[in-house]
Amino acid sequence: MPEIKFYDHEPIPMEMHKVKIVQQLNLLPTRQRLERIKEAGFNTFQLHNGDIFMDMLTDSGVNAMSDEQLAGMMKPDDAYAGSESFFRMAKKLEEIFGIPYCLPAHQGRACENILATRFVTSGKCVIMNYHFTTTKAHITRLGGHVEELVKDEGLVSKSDLPFKGDIDLDKLEACIQKEGADNVAFMRIEAGTNLIGGQPVSVQNFKDACAIARKHGVLSVLDASLLQDNLYFNKTRDEACKDMSIREITREIADQFDIIYFSARKFGFARGGAILVRDEALYHSMEDLVPMFEGFLTYGGMSIREIEAMTVGFDESMEMDVISQGPQFIKYCVDQLDAYGVPMITPGGGLGAHVDAIQMVGHIPQEEYPSGALTAAFYICGGIRGMERGTLSEERNPDGSERLASMELVRLALPRRVFTLSQVEYVIDRVKWVYDHRELIGGLRFVHEPATLRFFTGKLEPTSDWPEKLAEAFIADFGEDQ
Ligand SMILES: Cc1ncc(COP(=O)(O)O)c(C=O)c1O
Repeated sequence: MPEIKFYDHEPIPMEMHKVKIVQQLNLLPTRQRLERIKEAGFNTFQLHNGDIFMDMLTDSGVNAMSDEQLAGMMKPDDAYAGSESFFRMAKKLEEIFGIPYCLPAHQGRACENILATRFVTSGKCVIMNYHFTTTKAHITRLGGHVEELVKDEGLVSKSDLPFKGDIDLDKLEACIQKEGADNVAFMRIEAGTNLIGGQPVSVQNFKDACAIARKHGVLSVLDASLLQDNLYFNKTRDEACKDMSIREITREIADQFDIIYFSARKFGFARGGAILVRDEALYHSMEDLVPMFEGFLTYGGMSIREIEAMTVGFDESMEMDVISQGPQFIKYCVDQLDAYGVPMITPGGGLGAHVDAIQMVGHIPQEEYPSGALTAAFYICGGIRGMERGTLSEERNPDGSERLASMELVRLALPRRVFTLSQVEYVIDRVKWVYDHRELIGGLRFVHEPATLRFFTGKLEPTSDWPEKLAEAFIADFGEDQ
């Protein structure tokens, strides 16, 4: 989007849309928030949405829809088999990605289930730039293992590297040699790498990685769930892409891959997912899994209305005015907090602003879940619901010991087209306050720990009375009702 100039100050991010429908928000007083987070077992997934002021848990399925998407939802072709809505969607995806075969699935992890079921068997390796929680869980469930080969600089929290999601090509080559190409189920590159702070992958790295995979006969898979943020950064941070349209960059990336899948809870501003397959035989080798796990091949577990909304959303994801808003708001938030001294993942990526909990609450041992504790603190001191992305989001090692995460992050997601800049200012203000009182925050321990994906449903308790002390300090500064 063109940078909008201001008469008497520097440019600020601008919303290139207006609000037509609103949802009323509720800011509970601090002591009530303290009670709610206790009831939720200090797990923000367990909070009720009505008790939250700023829901920054995720960008998944909570992006605002456009008037055009809602209009699309009024003309679905509802049929168990052969829905025209599905064919419209598949045609749009072929137009954008140049890939002819489409398997629908109800969300991203459903695509991952199908891919893992088809390609992963015991002992097989899946190579990635970095894992995503559900992706990895499907692979390990089937006895496979994941090799994460993101460049070392990708895991450095403060950086000015423009493409921190790039895979290390030397490590990729070495890993395929070590595992043996036949033992590699596939190589998966995640655009807008989620768990390291929504960090993008460069077009050149996509090309180089896929060339290595191709040379060894290894299947290449793109997780395009966060592609729209990645595309924004390709266009704005890479000299080679600056004169290309978003559609041209998309095709340049897509042309490298055998398979592309995505969560349309992110890519497409709706709720759904799909796997795109270039090769007809490969497509047929997976098609039976869709009716088995999802639904018939022309709806894949999705509502036909959502399919219509997704189809419009894909086109909107190709518009620079649309895809700039998230990254620009995130940059604003990250830059303000970074300037104040709050340890942030820099440069700001897509999807959300990420606080480095190891740096901010380094006095909490990793075994006591510093990111989880900091996430709870943001809720107590502001009604802000972020998401823990650290050790708590890992699975334990087979011997039961903790697998300490290489990054301890709190993600403050900015769902697309949802928040205004004044709401972002509020979040910045409360995070600064928490930063200045960070020594009050203590650790957490599990009281109920599920074996898989424990961060969704686990319950924890504080290791001391730190939540009460934090709440009282907050009330002393802001009063009873904030
Ligand atoms: C990169 C990435 N891949 C896959 C998924 C899974 O998608 P879903 O939540 O639709 O199952 C997500 C969700 O956050 C994601 O960020």
